[in-house]
Amino acid sequence: MIFETHAHYDDAAYDEDRDALLGSMQENQIEYIVNVGASLSSTAASIALAEIYPFVYAAAGVHPSETAALNEKAFAQLEKQCAHKKVVAIGEIGLDYYWEEPAHEIQKVWFARQLELAKNMKKPVIIHSREAAKDTYDILAMHNAKEIGGVIHCFSYSVEMAEAYIKMGFYIGIGGVITFKNAKKLREVVTAIPIERILLETDCPYLSPEPKRGSRNSSQNLPYIAQKIAEIKGMSYDEVVSITKRNARQMYQI
Ligand code: NI
Repeated sequence: MIFETHAHYDDAAYDEDRDALLGSMQENQIEYIVNVGASLSSTAASIALAEIYPFVYAAAGVHPSETAALNEKAFAQLEKQCAHKKVVAIGEIGLDYYWEEPAHEIQKVWFARQLELAKNMKKPVIIHSREAAKDTYDILAMHNAKEIGGVIHCFSYSVEMAEAYIKMGFYIGIGGVITFKNAKKLREVVTAIPIERILLETDCPYLSPEPKRGSRNSSQNLPYIAQKIAEIKGMSYDEVVSITKRNARQMYQI
């Protein structure tokens, strides 16, 4: 059965059928789900889902695009959320330079603070990094993130960057993009890195794999991603599913 390492079931896209959908995961071969926070409110919603469903775990964190809302009071609240027993990681945190706002300096400050929080809590980090490869790497190195490790989620950089992050103890998160025709660079990454460093993720409701591209995503589309990785690496589907599950359980300590 499959380990979904990155989902957002608190999203309004699931308001109509959230319980039915989550209730059908296990019969559809999805064994574990980590629901990832992107703000204080989505972290609270992630924890609430983890309290209802035994197979759902939560990550607590503030996404770089949401960091303008942070201050000391909010950060203290985040610290409390991180201590919940079903919070298995700090995330998603990082840098997103695709957008001009918030200013890069603000993003960097709160990325660093949340990294230190993860180190204090001894929990791995889920990294969101877009068009910010070098700054992300430098900040992780400066804060000795090797101590805690984690995943570079929805990986979009080069083979060289993937290898550098792996050397730092990180996993590489692979999602629906791997099934897209124009994903040549990502296919090269999957070819080059060992399966022992890959995690399966959807980032749902976004980024549905082919042949479901354009529709609402869910963890039940993970088989398309596992199948594509199996093809690229010349492995069986079952091997990809079982090794990536082992990787995720090791990282999240589940
Ligand atoms: Ni996400």
